[in-house]
Amino acid sequence: MRVNHVGEVCAQALYEGQALAARGERTRESLERAAEEERDHLAWCAQRIRELGGRASLLNPLWYAGSLALGVTAGLLGDRWNLAFLAETERQVEEHLAGHLEMLDPADARTRELVAAMQADEARHRETAMALGAAELPPPVKLAMRLASKLMTTVSYRV
Ligand SMILES: [Fe+2]
Ligand SMILES: [Fe+2]
Repeated sequence: MRVNHVGEVCAQALYEGQALAARGERTRESLERAAEEERDHLAWCAQRIRELGGRASLLNPLWYAGSLALGVTAGLLGDRWNLAFLAETERQVEEHLAGHLEMLDPADARTRELVAAMQADEARHRETAMALGAAELPPPVKLAMRLASKLMTTVSYRV
């Protein structure tokens, strides 16, 4: 759950940054709405961590700052790329959550329900971005995002 929590810290910061730099009104609105739902996810994850007696990543301020800067950068590239970045982020988050669901204890209904609800929201964020005309990111960019999130998940699993 700590890793999921960091993911939501990053998602929220990314989309806030992207919304700041968005050009079109609809793009900005959809980014703001997504950021708001990521804040809900963040609260659900924080709550579940508390219930399980765990702790959040110590590096959260760092994840937040880095993601915010990255979000602004993506936003400056224009709305099609901004939305493309959102769509790809969500695709990768959905994959991560699907993997987490597979690993989760089948008896842990509460965590499963929470992860599944986030997964459904992420899918909707991706679909909205695509409907608004998201471009398709070049494969090296997708790969770089994958590597960055791999680093983030590996580090935050421990710290
Ligand atoms: Fe989320
Ligand atoms: Fe999302």
